[in-house]
Amino acid sequence: MARITALLFASLFLSPLSAASPTRASPLLASRQDTDNEGLHSLMLAAGKLFFGTATDVRYLDNKAHQAIVQNPNEFGMIVPENSQKWGELEKEDKGKVDFTNTDIIAAQAKGNGQLFRCHVLVWGAQLPSYVTSTSWTEKTLSDVLQAHITTTVTHFGSQCYSWDVVSEALSSSPDSNTLSTTSLFHQVLGASYIPFSFYWTSLAADPSSKLYYNDFNLELSPSKAQGAVDIVHLIRNYTSPTGEKNKARIDGIGLQSHLFVSSVPSLPSLTSTLELFTNLSLEVSFSELDISHSSLSPSPNATQIEQQEKDYMTVISACLAVKGCVGITVWGFSDKYSWVKDAFPGKGGGCLYDENMKNKGSWFAVAEVLRRAGVVRRGAVAVDASLDGEVAVAVNSTTTVEGEGGGGGGRDPDEAVRKAARSGELMRGVNGTELMVAAGEEVGDAQGKGQGVVNGARRWVVTGWGGWVVVMGWGFWGFWGILSS
Ligand SMILES: *[C@@H]1O[C@H](CO)[C@@H](O)[C@H](O)[C@H]1NC(C)=O
Ligand SMILES: *[C@@H]1O[C@H](CO)[C@@H](O)[C@H](O)[C@H]1NC(C)=O
Ligand SMILES: *[C@@H]1O[C@H](CO)[C@@H](O)[C@H](O)[C@H]1NC(C)=O
Ligand SMILES: *[C@@H]1O[C@H](CO)[C@@H](O)[C@H](O)[C@H]1NC(C)=O
Ligand SMILES: *[C@@H]1O[C@H](CO)[C@@H](O)[C@H](O)[C@H]1NC(C)=O
Repeated sequence: MARITALLFASLFLSPLSAASPTRASPLLASRQDTDNEGLHSLMLAAGKLFFGTATDVRYLDNKAHQAIVQNPNEFGMIVPENSQKWGELEKEDKGKVDFTNTDIIAAQAKGNGQLFRCHVLVWGAQLPSYVTSTSWTEKTLSDVLQAHITTTVTHFGSQCYSWDVVSEALSSSPDSNTLSTTSLFHQVLGASYIPFSFYWTSLAADPSSKLYYNDFNLELSPSKAQGAVDIVHLIRNYTSPTGEKNKARIDGIGLQSHLFVSSVPSLPSLTSTLELFTNLSLEVSFSELDISHSSLSPSPNATQIEQQEKDYMTVISACLAVKGCVGITVWGFSDKYSWVKDAFPGKGGGCLYDENMKNKGSWFAVAEVLRRAGVVRRGAVAVDASLDGEVAVAVNSTTTVEGEGGGGGGRDPDEAVRKAARSGELMRGVNGTELMVAAGEEVGDAQGKGQGVVNGARRWVVTGWGGWVVVMGWGFWGFWGILSS
């Protein structure tokens, strides 16, 4: 049990800290500034991942509030065009009239903001140009047209694509099936070989640094479908090209779309095991089109359902954090105003991180909290957690927490902030009292620890390990205060 040795106020605690260990004082203050521009992507980077991204498109360009968020590289470090890069959008007119204008606008914006750009999607059975769906193809004529589409498109975007979704949704949509979808035009004319064929031609045309992905839904929910994706990986890797070349079709990653529903999100162990199924094949993985919708919006979701959505987001984010080969997370739009779900599934929705007025929802704070904690734990020994209503738990190491409330506002005596010390395994209090899974912190004695607490999105606490002591500094309504504990 952690012992609270001293409670110090204002200048009382600042001087011993800086006198005894001047090098410790400045990192504390610096850590305050570090996160002035904190956003989901910067938190994701601090947690050791590559990106937190979103889909967007030209049709939102005139919504200034939406654009301000999309173009904030601390919030989103990866951009993917929601629709404009699909084959049917690139060739709206006649065969051969390819128009990259809309995707180029999004790509240029991402580049200007220093954001990664994911290219989406080369070969998918839907949103095809009308000449593709209306022509009666032979194997030869369809292969030629597919190859030309791949080569032209991939060459146009070149090295700007962090990754390509080469093929999407090739697997049957019936649950618990590992078979290929036979409703796709490509499968009907070319059979299963259209998949490795597409990866082969993309491999030849793509920048060697671009990652080539297979992207599908329900992989995270259905073990058989996930196995179907494993079979696709083998199909690609075993492919012999028309000219007899082997090992030329490359696949680097699996995108798990993760269009999920509140209360139906797989457990954390189930999600991590699905991710590992793919990372064990030397592939990277990402949650590629995440949203977690309410299955009914009428009546409006109540507090329990909203909290469940926050927990569900935490579970998905935690799964990516737990698996080394999970490089990032991309949401399929961030605002309930524009989510595809309400069009595709009338009556369902509300699954995004921002509401219709571009304001962060509880789900956003939940995601930020999980990421923030992962970053803190990664950086050092001490983690502090504060829920939105002002409760705080200080995790000294994996087995000790100090819990309390107050301090952040409302004029409560910060004395109460550490009124209780408790052992609580690896669980700490999270957003509004929900329990969070948290990686274990390390021993405090190495003086490497650093942590922070955030109440209503504003930083209120900073913690550091210092010569075997834990130093907690806070500010807010009560002014500055500090706690020392061993
Ligand atoms: C956690 O810290 C407490 C004291 O703060 C200590 O007694 C305990 O041994 C530590 N546990 C581990 C696993 O390091
Ligand atoms: C080729 O396919 C078989 C299964 O059909 C699989 O066991 C093998 O690993 C595959 N080869 C590669 C390189 O993926
Ligand atoms: C992935 O590989 C690890 C190490 O070999 C193994 O323990 C784990 O069970 C594998 N996971 C899956 C889902 O195949
Ligand atoms: C919230 O709504 C769900 C679904 O309608 C219902 O089962 C649950 O009892 C409600 N909870 C509260 C606290 O109203
Ligand atoms: C947390 O609880 C407070 C009331 O204590 C409420 O106002 C707030 O909306 C809740 N936050 C979330 C994310 O549910």
